[in-house]
Amino acid sequence: METPLIQEKAKNDATGKSSKQDGVLEFQTVGIWTIMRQVKPHSWLFPGRYLLEEGKKWMEVLPIVYRFVQECFSVAPGMMIVYLVSNFWSSTESAIGLYLSSQILNIMQNAISSRKMDGYTLFRAVFVRIIFTFLSSVSSRLKKQTMSTLSNRVRYLFDERLLQANLRLDLPTHENPDTEENINKFIARTSQGGAWNLFNSLSRKLQISASIVSQVSILLGILNHQHGGLWFGLIYLIKGLFDIFDFQSIWESTAYVWDSNPHYRRMRSLMQMIKQTAHRVEIITDVLSDYIHQEWLRARKLLGDISDEYPNQLLDYERPLLRIFSSNISEDIPLVFYAIQIYINPKSFSLPSVALMQQASSTLTWTVYEIFRDENSLLQICHKIKALYAVEKTENKLQDGSLNYFGTIPEARGMDVIFKNVSFSYPKSTTGIQVIKNVSFNVKKGQTVVIVGSNGSGKSTLLKLFNRLYDPTSGEIHVDGHPLQDFVAADVRRSMAMLYQTYSHYPLSIQENIALGQPELASLLHDERKTEKIIERQKELTEKLAEAAKLGGSFELIQEQKQGFETVLHPTVWSWSTRSNDTSQAFKDKMAEVNNKADVSAGQWQRLALSRLFFRTASDRVRLVAADEPSASLDPQMEYELFERLRNLSTSHGKTLIYVTHRFGYLTKHADIILVMHKGELIEQGKHEDLLVKGGEYAKLYKLQAEAFMSDDKVE
Ligand SMILES: Nc1ncnc2c1ncn2[C@@H]1O[C@H](COP(=O)(O)OP(=O)(O)OP(=O)(O)O)[C@@H](O)[C@H]1O
Ligand SMILES: [Mg+2]
Repeated sequence: METPLIQEKAKNDATGKSSKQDGVLEFQTVGIWTIMRQVKPHSWLFPGRYLLEEGKKWMEVLPIVYRFVQECFSVAPGMMIVYLVSNFWSSTESAIGLYLSSQILNIMQNAISSRKMDGYTLFRAVFVRIIFTFLSSVSSRLKKQTMSTLSNRVRYLFDERLLQANLRLDLPTHENPDTEENINKFIARTSQGGAWNLFNSLSRKLQISASIVSQVSILLGILNHQHGGLWFGLIYLIKGLFDIFDFQSIWESTAYVWDSNPHYRRMRSLMQMIKQTAHRVEIITDVLSDYIHQEWLRARKLLGDISDEYPNQLLDYERPLLRIFSSNISEDIPLVFYAIQIYINPKSFSLPSVALMQQASSTLTWTVYEIFRDENSLLQICHKIKALYAVEKTENKLQDGSLNYFGTIPEARGMDVIFKNVSFSYPKSTTGIQVIKNVSFNVKKGQTVVIVGSNGSGKSTLLKLFNRLYDPTSGEIHVDGHPLQDFVAADVRRSMAMLYQTYSHYPLSIQENIALGQPELASLLHDERKTEKIIERQKELTEKLAEAAKLGGSFELIQEQKQGFETVLHPTVWSWSTRSNDTSQAFKDKMAEVNNKADVSAGQWQRLALSRLFFRTASDRVRLVAADEPSASLDPQMEYELFERLRNLSTSHGKTLIYVTHRFGYLTKHADIILVMHKGELIEQGKHEDLLVKGGEYAKLYKLQAEAFMSDDKVE
C-alpha cells in the first residue's frame, strides 16, 4: 500500500519566532501512526555544505561533552580507569580471539594438508588462547564490579544537580513543557538517558570505533597473505554497508510520531477507564459496563485491520520488492566471487578464512550501524549530554528582587497589601483571556478580608498573585509600601502562610507534613545528634506539632493511626512480583502490607493541611495568612471552630487574614473588607452591612443562602 505523503511548510512556533531549523515538515501515515519529519532545506545543494553543518554541530557539543567526561571521571578516577580498560579489553576481545582462533585453525589445516603435526606450536597456541580467555574473565569481573559503584555515583551526581536545578524553578518556568521534558528525561533510571547511560553510551561508541579499527586491521592482516584476499574482504565490507544504508529508520531523521487514529485512541481510553480504580466507583454506580463494551466493539470495528505495530516495522513491511531483492542478492555476491576465485586459482583461499570473513562481515555491519545510524548515534548522545546541562541553565521567568523583606520592615505583626489596576492571564491557557481584570483594593495590617464570587471568577488566582506564584500581566502590587517585585521573593513567601484550594500531602510522615510549615524546624525531626539540647528541642517541637494538629482538627485522627505521627499515608513503594499465579496467602498478605496506601476522608485530608497552616502561622515571621476555601469539606462544628481560630490570628495576633469562601455568614459578617469577584472583575467591596444596603451582587447571594436556611426551618 502506498502511504500518503503530505508536505507542508513549517509554521512558526507559538512564540512567533521563526527558528533557524525551520524547513519543510513531512507527514506520513502508517498504521495508526502519523510520522512528522523535519526535512532539512538545502542539504542536497552540495555535500560540502552538509559536512560543514555537521562540523558546526560537533563544535557546539564538544566542550560540553568534555566537561561531562571530566565530571564523570571525578567521581572515582582510579575506578573509572579500571572500568574503561576492561571495557576496552572486551571490545577488542572478539578481534583478538578471532586472531588466536584462526592461528589454531591454520596450524590444524597445515597439519592436515602436510600430514605432519607440530605438537609444540599447536599446544602453545591453545595455551595462549586459554590464558586469553582467563584474562577476559578477569576483565569481565572487574568491569561489572566497578560499574555498579560508578553508575551509582554518576547517576546520583547528576540527579542531585537536577534536583537543585528543579527546586529553584518558579511556577511559570516549571509549567513550561520544555523544562518539564528536560527534567523528567534525566532522572536516574530512566531508559531515556540518565547521566550514567549517556556516559556509557559515549564510551561504548568509542570502544566500537576501536573494535572496528582492530577488526579491520586483523582481517586485512589475515587476508593479505592470500591471493585476491583483499578484494574478497572489500566485497564483504560493501555488502555489510549496503545492508545498513538500505533501510531508512525513522530514528535517523528529526521525527515525531503519534497515534493519530481516533478509533485506536478511543479503544485505549475505554481500556484505561476499566483499569483505573478512580473510575471504578462511577462505572459501577452509573452502570456503564454495557456502554463501555459496546463502544469498544464499535471502535474496534471502525479500526479494522489498521496496525499498531511500531512504525519502523510497518515501514519495513512496505519496502519495495526490488529493494528487498537487491538486498538479498547481495548476500550471494561474496559467494559468487569466491566460486570464481576458486575456479581460477583453486589454492587461493583457505576455508577457515571464508568462515571468518562471514562472521566478521556481520559484526562489522552491526558496529558501523551502531555508531552512525542507531537512534543513539554518537552525535545524538552528545546532544543529549548538552541537554543534561541545559536544565541547569534554565532561566526563571520571574525576576527576583533584591530587597530583604525582614530587614526592610523589621517589626510588624501584619502586612499592608495594595493591588493597583492588576490584570492577569495564565501563560498556559486554553482561552487566552484575562482572568483578573483591572482589580484594585487596599488591605491594612491585621484586617480580615473575605473574597467571595462564583466558580471561575478568579478568587484562587488572586491568591496566587500575593506571593508571586505568578506576576500580574499589568498593574502593580505593593507590600508594606514597596513594590512586591522589589523584595527577594523567598523572603515574602516566608512571611506568608498560604493554604491553596488544591493542597499537597507529601509522601512523608504525618509529623513531617505538618512540620514542613516551618522547614527550618522540620529538619530537627531527623537530627541524629542525640545531645541533651537536641533531645530537648525535639521534645518541644513534638509538643508544638501536637498543638498545631489540635488547632487544625487532625489530632484525634492521627492518634487513631497505628503509628501515630510517624504514619506515612501515601508512601512511595517500588515493588514488583514474578509468577503471581501460585502465591500463598502469607505471600499476598505481605504484598498488601508493603503496598498499603491508606486513604482518609476528604475532610480529614483538609484537617491535615490546616494543621500545617497553623504550624506555619505559629511563627512570628508570618504576617499574612490566606486560606482558599479551607472549610469546603469540614463538618459545621469544625468549620465554626476554624473560623474562630483563624479570626483569632488577626484579632489577637495582628496578622492580616485573607479568606476565600462560598459561604456567607459568620466570617463575612466579621470581615473588615469583603471583595466580590465576578468573571475576573472586582465588582463590589466593603463591609457586610454596607454591601447589604447597596443591594448588589453580594446582597443577592447573601439573601439566596439565607432564604435557603429559612425555608429549611419552615419545613421542619
Ligand atoms: N493553571 C491555570 N491555567 C490556565 N487557566 C487557569 C488556571 N487556573 C485557573 N484558570 C482559569 O482562570 C479562571 C479563574 O480561575 P480561579 O481558579 O481563580 O477561579 P475561582 O474563583 O477560584 O473558582 P472556584 O470557586 O471554582 O475555586 C478560570 O476561568 C479558570 O479556568
Ligand atoms: Mg478557587
